[in-house]
Amino acid sequence: NPAPIDAQAVLAWYDRHARDLPWRVSPADRARGIRPDPYRVWLSEVMLQQTTVAAVKNYFLRFTSLWPSVFDLAAAPLDSVLKQWAGLGYYARARNLHACAQAVVRDHGGVFPMTSAGLQTLPGVGAYTSAAIAAICFEEPIAVLDGNLDRVLARYYALPVPVRVAKDELRAALQAAVPRRAGDFAQAMMDLGATICAPRTAACMLCPIQPGCLATRTLDPTIYPLKPAK
Ligand code: ADE
Repeated sequence: NPAPIDAQAVLAWYDRHARDLPWRVSPADRARGIRPDPYRVWLSEVMLQQTTVAAVKNYFLRFTSLWPSVFDLAAAPLDSVLKQWAGLGYYARARNLHACAQAVVRDHGGVFPMTSAGLQTLPGVGAYTSAAIAAICFEEPIAVLDGNLDRVLARYYALPVPVRVAKDELRAALQAAVPRRAGDFAQAMMDLGATICAPRTAACMLCPIQPGCLATRTLDPTIYPLKPAK
């Protein structure tokens, strides 16, 4: 029986190694009681779908300086938003972004819903994005599972089948591990997937959950996740 993911080890690692990203709240600000802004977290999560953190940073800074609040973005002409989006790809995302900002202003008085279920009613906000915002901004104890986390979990459990066959089990395992600091845990797992348990390399000696990991005991942890047979 595999060990559950040690969330306290993950959080202790995050406290030392969290990436400093423009949509995050610094530990110093956090100590003053400052919370992540749902508008900024939503914007970053939409931009980060299928785009790397490195590529997103400058777009995020440009958008938030042009449109510091959801009211500003909702009031912007669609073609300015599309123009600023150029280079990020998938223009449907930019159209949804603008539609979502207008829905938040029109239907919610400019205040993002505070639950994953409420967030999912917004245009372009699906299971992943709603869970990320709810955990990071409102500490909803919910599993935030993207493709990077699929890889981390498939390795942790040395999953003997392709991820798509075991999606529900992976989600349940992650959900069972979610601690009180749900937002930090979600972001810590993302950082772990980006920096330690990366697609082509696994820096197991640096990993806070190596003690319970089944793949690290094999010759090559990066064989997981197994590819579906064609
Ligand atoms: N990738 C997607 N969301 C992210 C986040 N909040 N932090 C770092 N990487 C991410």
